[in-house]
Amino acid sequence: MQSTVDFIRGKIGDFVPEIALVLGSGLGEFTKNLIGVQIPYSDIPDFMVSTVKGHKGSLFFTEIFGKKLVIMQGRFHFYEGYELKDITYPIKVFKKLGVKTLILTNAAGSVKKDLKPSDLMLIKDHINFTAKNPLIGKNDDTLGERFPDMSDIYTASLRETVKTCAKEENIDLKEGVYIMTTGPSYETPAEVKMFEFLGADAVGMSTVPEAIVSNYLGLQTIGISLITNYASGISKEKLSHKEVVEMGNIATEKFTKLVNAIIKKL
Ligand code: HPA
Repeated sequence: MQSTVDFIRGKIGDFVPEIALVLGSGLGEFTKNLIGVQIPYSDIPDFMVSTVKGHKGSLFFTEIFGKKLVIMQGRFHFYEGYELKDITYPIKVFKKLGVKTLILTNAAGSVKKDLKPSDLMLIKDHINFTAKNPLIGKNDDTLGERFPDMSDIYTASLRETVKTCAKEENIDLKEGVYIMTTGPSYETPAEVKMFEFLGADAVGMSTVPEAIVSNYLGLQTIGISLITNYASGISKEKLSHKEVVEMGNIATEKFTKLVNAIIKKL
């Protein structure tokens, strides 16, 4: 951990990011017109490398509305073969760099008809359907407790802030529960039916491990899903990653507007 932090410090000097933003599938364009310091994951000691199309694979340090940010352009997934503790390693690094608030974004499938492709959904809670936990293993008591409470992972006060931002920007923002599967196969129609029964609104293959660790570390956390498709069985169409990335591109403007408004208000 210290060699990772020291390496990054060597690149960014005394820049202290207060917000970390994790960009999901098809949302990589957020940084397009921003100026900052870019560090490829492959240069950073002990960092993993993202292998998914539509995920760039670098840390980007920049300032937006006077707020200092570290942006993860591309994240790591369990289905790539990484352990959950490796996937969440960057979150621990962010905490060491000074981050106080984490904004997690992802692409997700809708489990309900009234949550449509291109909708944005504020995550109010999640269901960890992976039967794994990123905190398994010896606990480092200097980072967080052994049995951390998870009753307010997606910080309630910040959810109100995000809703206010959406209103001010005239963005229709839904709110719901995100359920994570390991992937990489999409769900079956029977599984999606079960997820709805369990209380989920959207299904995806990320975010939950990072959110658990974020909460464990005492960071304030925001989660936003871009609904890219109806999950299996909700519509008759077959699912493809191409469709997910394309919908990401279509909704980039709306997403960028909302995230910018949040950053401004934090
Ligand atoms: N299922 C799981 N993950 C996803 C989906 C989906 O339908 N869409 C985008 N990510």
